[in-house]
Amino acid sequence: MNRFRILSVVAVSTVVSVLLTACGKDKRSTGWEYAPNMYEHIAYDPYQPNPNFKNGTTAQVPPAGTIPVGFVRFDYPNTKDGYEKASVEVVNKYITDKKTLADGKVLFEHFCSPCHGIQGQGDGLVVQHGYPAPPSYSKGTSSRGGAMKDLTDGKIYHTITYGLNAMGSYASQLDPDERWKVILYVHQLQKL
Ligand code: HEC
Repeated sequence: MNRFRILSVVAVSTVVSVLLTACGKDKRSTGWEYAPNMYEHIAYDPYQPNPNFKNGTTAQVPPAGTIPVGFVRFDYPNTKDGYEKASVEVVNKYITDKKTLADGKVLFEHFCSPCHGIQGQGDGLVVQHGYPAPPSYSKGTSSRGGAMKDLTDGKIYHTITYGLNAMGSYASQLDPDERWKVILYVHQLQKL
């Protein structure tokens, strides 16, 4: 008996709710909203007009110099001067140990070895297929002057961040910590 009662309550409420939701004349209407303040909240939407600001919009341009949380600045421009200045001032915050070198090796082999080669000799797979060859890290000469084996932390960081000629920027693929680990590994290849 009790079971019948439950079943009939469920059946009646199903029919009622179908009727309530299905009978709107306006086909675009969402019907009755449950908890409407979840849809029509009091907070402003980013692109909603907003009388509280002078320019009348909600989304405001951040003040000059604003950086995202966790963003690491690199205030050396993509010029020869920026490169030389970074060379003197920027120092790797990691020390060479087993873990950082192992991480650097993995990152190097994924992101750099296709051109630079596993040993950093400038003979990676895409170079074997005709891509312009980078100079060897241990025996080559940089197009910006000086031996590749003498490239400093700052010069390599600058290169990874901005790229150089046929080499693109790797700033969007490698975060600053990853760049520093790759640099430790490049220093190993400079000794080969
Ligand atoms: C698409 C191929 C390619 C990839 C991938 C690549 N490079 Fe290069 N890289 C080059 C070429 C080509 C040059 C030589 C550019 C020149 O001097 O004109 C170069 C030059 C360099 C130099 C020398 C910069 C200087 O001051 O002379 C460094 C250091 C370097 N790359 C590091 C890296 C690291 C680290 C990675 C991985 C994050 C990487 N490269 C990935 C092609 C590449």
